[in-house]
Amino acid sequence: MTRPYADLLDLAVGAAAEAAELVLRMRTEGVDVAGEKSSPTDIVTRADHAAEDLLRTRLLSARPDDGFLGEEGDDLPGTSGLRWVVDPIDGTVNYLYGHRAYAVCVAVEQVDHDGADGTDGAGRVVAAVVHAPALGEVYTATLGGGAYCNGEPIAVRDVVPMEQRLIGTGFNYVREVRLAQAGYVARLLERVRDVRRGGSAALDLCSVAAGRLDGYAEEGTHPWDDAAAGLVAAEAGAEVAIWTSPAGNRLTVAAPKGDFSGFADVLAESGFVGNTAGNTSV
Ligand code: IPD
Repeated sequence: MTRPYADLLDLAVGAAAEAAELVLRMRTEGVDVAGEKSSPTDIVTRADHAAEDLLRTRLLSARPDDGFLGEEGDDLPGTSGLRWVVDPIDGTVNYLYGHRAYAVCVAVEQVDHDGADGTDGAGRVVAAVVHAPALGEVYTATLGGGAYCNGEPIAVRDVVPMEQRLIGTGFNYVREVRLAQAGYVARLLERVRDVRRGGSAALDLCSVAAGRLDGYAEEGTHPWDDAAAGLVAAEAGAEVAIWTSPAGNRLTVAAPKGDFSGFADVLAESGFVGNTAGNTSV
């Protein structure tokens, strides 16, 4: 039986494994903060740059006509209709402090598909890997091919009442966005079992996929935070959607299918705009 997108997934898995080994090794040598980005709390390390360079080199030497978008600055157009979207270390602050929840994320998307599946016609992810070397977890997914952790199939949790849900979130590095986040996190907190802030958007989405969270919402995300893990979550049975905050910021939302509306109601009360039915067009 042929595995759809198998060649793309194998390439992604191999490149992510090399990058993961590199960042793990560089951590033993001491973390070098190479600079600040959107605010003084938003840092980039020498390992982020080295891993993005490695991923770009590996992926584009195998497939030179593809595009490439990386968190640390690469934005290269391609001609093949496919684009790689990578986050060399998602969870850089965790990496800096020695918390183990950080991951190399690699997704490949069709940039020119026809949208016949109800998505918006751009950026449909077809293969993805989230490799968390310090946790020993490698999440993979292909469009229509299911989601896996270390080769074992994974699935979202069954839908439970709102007051029994454990919800993941994250905080952006920009002060104004954080203040807005405080509003909807407070609304969630009064209704759910508890809220977790793991420090890696990608691994939060993978936790929804693996049934360790009942949902996830974060304002101020970027495509490299959720491109790979969004497919993992969707293939594990989650609705994954991109909403817009009242301030115009991008918001990533994920919850087990059938659970989305109740969860989305809380976000809608905070003024977020999105598709309450959810979609998988991350
Ligand atoms: C960050 C992490 C964090 C999330 C931030 C992201 P980075 O990614 O995913 O959990 O809250 O919004 O920017 O900077 O470590 O790649």
